[in-house]
Amino acid sequence: MSAVTVLRESAPGAGHDGPTAPQDAREVLLDVHAITKSFGDRVVLSDMSMRVHAGEVVAFLGANGSGKSTTLRAVNGLIEADSGDITIAGVRLNEASPHRRAEARRTAATVFQKIHLVQRRTVLQNVCAGGFARLPAWRSIPPLFGRDLREEAMGCLERVGLADRAHDRAGSLSGGQQQRVAIARALCQRPRMILADEPVSALDPKAADDVMRLLHELAVSENLGVAAVLHQPHLARAFAHRVIGLRGGRLVFDAPTADIDDVEVASLYL
Ligand SMILES: Nc1ncnc2c1ncn2[C@@H]1O[C@H](COP(=O)(O)OP(=O)(O)OP(=O)(O)O)[C@@H](O)[C@H]1O
Ligand SMILES: [Mg+2]
Repeated sequence: MSAVTVLRESAPGAGHDGPTAPQDAREVLLDVHAITKSFGDRVVLSDMSMRVHAGEVVAFLGANGSGKSTTLRAVNGLIEADSGDITIAGVRLNEASPHRRAEARRTAATVFQKIHLVQRRTVLQNVCAGGFARLPAWRSIPPLFGRDLREEAMGCLERVGLADRAHDRAGSLSGGQQQRVAIARALCQRPRMILADEPVSALDPKAADDVMRLLHELAVSENLGVAAVLHQPHLARAFAHRVIGLRGGRLVFDAPTADIDDVEVASLYL
């Protein structure tokens, strides 16, 4: 099957009734340029390029195995691409020292489908853990979280609408609430960007809507960049400013949400 790459530029969110337009869409927070990745003989990403701007939600669509998670992993450092360039918040990873590379990658917080909260700890303690990257190891033990960090974590919980659950056990919250806690924990990392790999796949439709609306609001009101892998095209339409389609490890389209038609989306899953 030939992969036709369609890249259409326009102000994200402009000119349609979908997601609210971002405030400053032109600052590039993430620039993935022509990356490739193979595992053994299997090429799983070929010439993959994409950008995320501040204030923008970018949805990744594609069938199982099309390379969505691999792209995000190459950004957050869980794997390294074989070739190509990734620039995060202005830092070109290939040229940066290991310290600068790690620092740049910390500006992108990752949220996963499987919510890795410590169930027996409180919601607040889980959110404080987002500040680990900025703490010496001995301060990362829950009883030693400082007041500043706890206050910051409370602020993050307010941003996701769960401050009233701060002192409950994480395990006592619903799946949708736990995902919002995971987003609060990501915010406690003080990111410029959130990478969300199927953040709503395990949630019921209402909770999935709530989480996507939250990510959209954070992007627009706080100028965060959000890259979200989704298996629900209707959520991409409702909450993303741009939609990227992958097939067989290649970019098939990258366009403002209003310009994506159902045939293009359906073609990803043939
Ligand atoms: N660590 C690995 N070792 C070997 N193969 C891998 C590894 N990680 C991913 N792959 C392969 O790379 C391809 C792309 O995987 P990836 O996880 O990026 O797909 P995806 O689009 O996220 O799919 P899904 O929708 O199922 O999550 C798949 O064929 C997968 O088997
Ligand atoms: Mg995946």
